[in-house]
Parts: sequence; C-alpha cells; structure tokens
Amino acid sequence: MPGDHLPSKGSRYEQLADEIARQIEDNVLRPGDRLPSVRQACEARQISPATVFQAYYLLESRGLIRSEPRSGYFVNPRATTRSLEPALSVPPKGAHRVDITTLVMDGLTLAADREIIPLGTAYPDPSLFPLDTINRSLGVSARQNDAWSAVNHLPTGNERLRREIGKRYLSHGTDIGVNEIVLTNGAMEGLNLCLEAVTKRGDSVVVESPCFYGALLALERRGVKAIEAPTHPRDGIDLSALANILETQRPQAVWLMTNFQNPLGCSMPREKKRALVDLLTRYETPLIEDDVYGELHHDGETPSSAKTFDRHGLVLHCSSFSKTLAPGYRVGWVAAGRFADDIRRLKFMASMAGSIPAQAALAEYLQSGSYERHLRHMRAALKAQKEALVDSVTRHFPHGTRLTRPTGGYFIWVDMPWDSTDALTLRDAAIVEKISVSPGPMFSSQGEFRNCLRLNFGHPWGTNMEQAIATLGEIAGRAPAAMIASP
Ligand SMILES: Cc1ncc(COP(=O)(O)O)c(C=O)c1O
Repeated sequence: MPGDHLPSKGSRYEQLADEIARQIEDNVLRPGDRLPSVRQACEARQISPATVFQAYYLLESRGLIRSEPRSGYFVNPRATTRSLEPALSVPPKGAHRVDITTLVMDGLTLAADREIIPLGTAYPDPSLFPLDTINRSLGVSARQNDAWSAVNHLPTGNERLRREIGKRYLSHGTDIGVNEIVLTNGAMEGLNLCLEAVTKRGDSVVVESPCFYGALLALERRGVKAIEAPTHPRDGIDLSALANILETQRPQAVWLMTNFQNPLGCSMPREKKRALVDLLTRYETPLIEDDVYGELHHDGETPSSAKTFDRHGLVLHCSSFSKTLAPGYRVGWVAAGRFADDIRRLKFMASMAGSIPAQAALAEYLQSGSYERHLRHMRAALKAQKEALVDSVTRHFPHGTRLTRPTGGYFIWVDMPWDSTDALTLRDAAIVEKISVSPGPMFSSQGEFRNCLRLNFGHPWGTNMEQAIATLGEIAGRAPAAMIASP
C-alpha cells in the first residue's frame, strides 16, 4: 500500500515493537533467538522498562515472540514477515467527489450466490443468530399488537425497545435519554439521516482511509465530497492529521468507526476517543459515529464510544441489531445529541417510522434477558474463527503479506506485496473458483488499496475455508509484476 515504506508512527513502544518485528522479517532475529533482556534494552535505548515491556507484550500479542519463565523473551518458531501488520495509510490529499456505487454493487451481487464461499460478504453466518427465538418473540409481540400501536410510535419508534437500548448504553457507561433515540431501518438509514442533518450538497466530510463503502455510498448519494484521513490499522484515524484537516479544510463533519472498524478492524483506545471528541469540540464539528460492531468484541467488555465523552451533543451515534442479533429485521437507531430533533423530523419525512412488529419483537427478546448469553456465544465463535483465518492466511498468502488482527468484529484486512495479483483481478479469478472477497478499492473514494482485500471470518471454519484460502493465496502469488497497475 502507499506509504508501506514509511517509518511507523505511534508511541515509543510501538516504534520499538515495529523495529524488532522488522528485524524478525529481515532474519536478523531468527526463530528461537533470545531478545535482549528488559534491562539491556532500557540501557541500550535509554527508555523505561515500562516501554520495553509494552513493546514485548505487543509483539507477543502479534504472535512474533513468546516469554519463557525466568529465561526471557524468544522469537517464535512460526514468526514470519506475515505476522506484520499493515502500515498507517497515506491517502491522497484534498476533498474528492465519490463515484463508487457500481463497483460496490458488482461486488455485492457477486457475493450473493449460496454456492460461493462467502469471504467477501458483510454479514456473519446466519447460524450465529438466535432466529428461532426471535421469531417466537415476534409471535408474542404480534399477539399483543393493537390497532393503536401502528401510530403510537411515529416517528421515533417502539418505546419499549428504545428503553432497552437506553439501558444497554447505560451499562456501557453512556447516559442517553430515551427521547434522544430514534429507531431507523437498519444503521444505514440512520447514518444517511445523520449525514443529511449536518451537510448539504457540495460540502466535505472526513472519513477513514480505508473506510466502510456504505459511508462512501452515502456521500455519493448526497453529493458530498470525501476527505480521506490517514488511518492506523490498530488504533484508527491519525489525530494529528485530522487536526490539520480540520484547521485547513474546515469539513462540515467527520464520519468514523471508533470500534472494530470495517474494513481494518482497528479500534480507538478509550483515551484516544476522548481526545477525538475534545478536538472536534474545539472546531464545533459533528461526528457521525458508526458503531455497529462495538458489541462484537472478542474478549473483555464492550468498549466505550466517542459518544461516551460527548458533553456538547456533537456526536451522532448510530448502531443496529443487524450484525449482532437479527440481520433481516432492519432495526437500527440513532442517538443524535443536539441533532435529535432534526433526525426525528428527517425520519418522519423519509419513511414516517420503522416496522412496528420487528421493533416490538426485538423489545420482547431483549426483555427476556437472553441477549447477553447469545452475544457471549457469538463472540467466542468469532474469536475462534478469526484465529483460524489469520493462521491460514499466514500460511498460504505470498511472502511479505501483512494482515490485521482485530479484537472484535469479523473482518481482517490483508495487505499483499506489490507484486501480487491486483485485488480486482484476484476478485474475478476467485469468483471463478466460487470464492468471494472484498477488494481494497471498494473502501476508497479514489480506487486505492489495489493490493488489499477484506476477508470475513463470520462463517464456521472447515476444510472448505482452508482450501479457499489456499486457492486465494495461490491466485495472489500467480500474477507477473507487469500486471500490477498502481493507482
Ligand atoms: C460498518 C457498517 N455500518 C453500517 C452497516 C449497515 O448496517 P445495517 O445493516 O444495520 O443497515 C454495515 C453493514 O454492512 C456496516 O458494515
């Protein structure tokens, strides 16, 4: 990817970790070699023991080194260059018109065939959802449905469900009033309404690079330009680059995913979210926060959102149950801070209200108390599937491939060496083999990331998956360098 050669940014410990990772890549440090002790590393580099420990922990979490009690840290036998993560992105500067619909629609149509191994889809396997239980909840709520319920909830949506959503926010440390929440037809409608509330045609909005193609489609639909900002594959948008854009280009809004970003899987640490909100508050710039994957963390607790730190109503927080519970029900929501009235009005103008039976069914399900148990099961499945996919890509893709290792959601981003097959060519060749992938250019307004793929690990692992990754790896390594068209 552009900027691959650039020195990594980030804190001191990340730089140290990257330096050691590069030594492993270059075979300076070889499998089984012992790393300098913490004391030696401190003395040699004039840094604190905490910095060295953090760097070693990071390398351990990337599978590059392991610690042995009372002996120190050693390079893992299976550590290879492929354990490296992609670098900070370096998107083209300036605001750009978006024209991506055809590319995205082609990709989604290709992926719809049930015979195809679905590494390119945006959804996890249907078997991960408790659809029978939810359908039963639909039956219960339908029996309680009276004639008034069709108009009672215009336009904000079922109050019981909004209360349940409000309780979940509270349990994650964010206090949102039930009246701030507007239910929408999936997160996508909510995101579009937010964009409509804070921009007009010809404005510009900052997005991540790469970013969710749904954001690009929304910008294209509204005639709004995209300013793509450098984004790190582990902790998200580069705040100093964002500050510079805010100062010099005065965009009307920023649109980000702070948790388990699609496609990178990166997440902003809590303090970075706070700093982001402080920065945006200084420039009075609204944040459209797309948080559809926050509940799908693989370990620990549900992460905070930028919304948690918003004291001025500038964050419009969007999510849905499409990825976590009931994809076909199309129930999402927006908690829009100072823009809540605008969103209510726009929702009414756009579609009056959402589907009342679907909302009532989800309210019934959430009140039954089964949601947490279901999420625990789903998170464990996703974590195991991620490990299998990462391991398989590491073994089968060409030497020099880099990939992300998200701690939530169900996507990894694979950054192949420049002499691999171009991602769009690879997508076409993979479809012939009945495998779908999402090629990098789907995630950029300028058709960048032609050496990158997004792969989905939301489906049960098996020999068919292993075989599909072996085939993709073989295709990736197939093309002569002459085929590569740089953006
Ligand atoms: C990042 C992101 N945001 C929003 C959506 C849309 O969510 P929904 O299906 O609830 O409209 C998707 C779906 O792919 C997504 O990946």
